[in-house]
Amino acid sequence: MYDVKSKDGTEWFYSETVKKHFFEPKNLAKTKEESEKLTKEADGIGEEGSPACGDMMKMWIKVKDNKIIDCKWQTFGCASAIASTSMFSTMITENGGMEIEKALEIKPQDIANRLDGLPTRKFHCSVLADKALRAAINDYYKKTNQLDKIKNDRIKIVDKILKITDHDIEEAVLDGARTFEDLQKRTKIGIQDKTCIPEAEQLLRYYIEKYFVKQTISQ
Ligand code: FES
Repeated sequence: MYDVKSKDGTEWFYSETVKKHFFEPKNLAKTKEESEKLTKEADGIGEEGSPACGDMMKMWIKVKDNKIIDCKWQTFGCASAIASTSMFSTMITENGGMEIEKALEIKPQDIANRLDGLPTRKFHCSVLADKALRAAINDYYKKTNQLDKIKNDRIKIVDKILKITDHDIEEAVLDGARTFEDLQKRTKIGIQDKTCIPEAEQLLRYYIEKYFVKQTISQ
């Protein structure tokens, strides 16, 4: 039922693990009462929207000795967002909780590996959870007065004529761009402002490395 083909003939396959986490998501805040309680008791709260699809994610965390000991979430996202956030929240809280710095290093590829695969075009859904976690951790740092640790994502304009930003390049990579030609096809970057091409190529490599180069997660 969940194995479908897109127009270009690409197979879309949801593994048994994805289906399990979609139908029985872990750490989901199921009711309004639960989310209100979490809002009162959480050490950090984060909320993020996906520029790629407009879906939303809210996350509540509890932190002890620099480890994330609890992570609950709610989303208006798709099946992939539900399954990948269920797995992501499991990964960062299992075995007594992951250190904050390690949790921030988890890549979509790591989540996909634990899910026994995720369609590449759905990787941006798992990034939604990562961004909500970042926001929750920043909120925790703010509440605990560790202001020097807060990391803000500043937007930088790369193509000065078409006003294409580093975030547009990031979204294009999450949407499947792997070469400069792919990137240009999706964003039109560098067509008029040719001076930005070296920086655009560098950012392309940076985001591919950030999201898709495999790494091993250790506690
Ligand atoms: S399509 Fe929006 S979260 Fe998956």
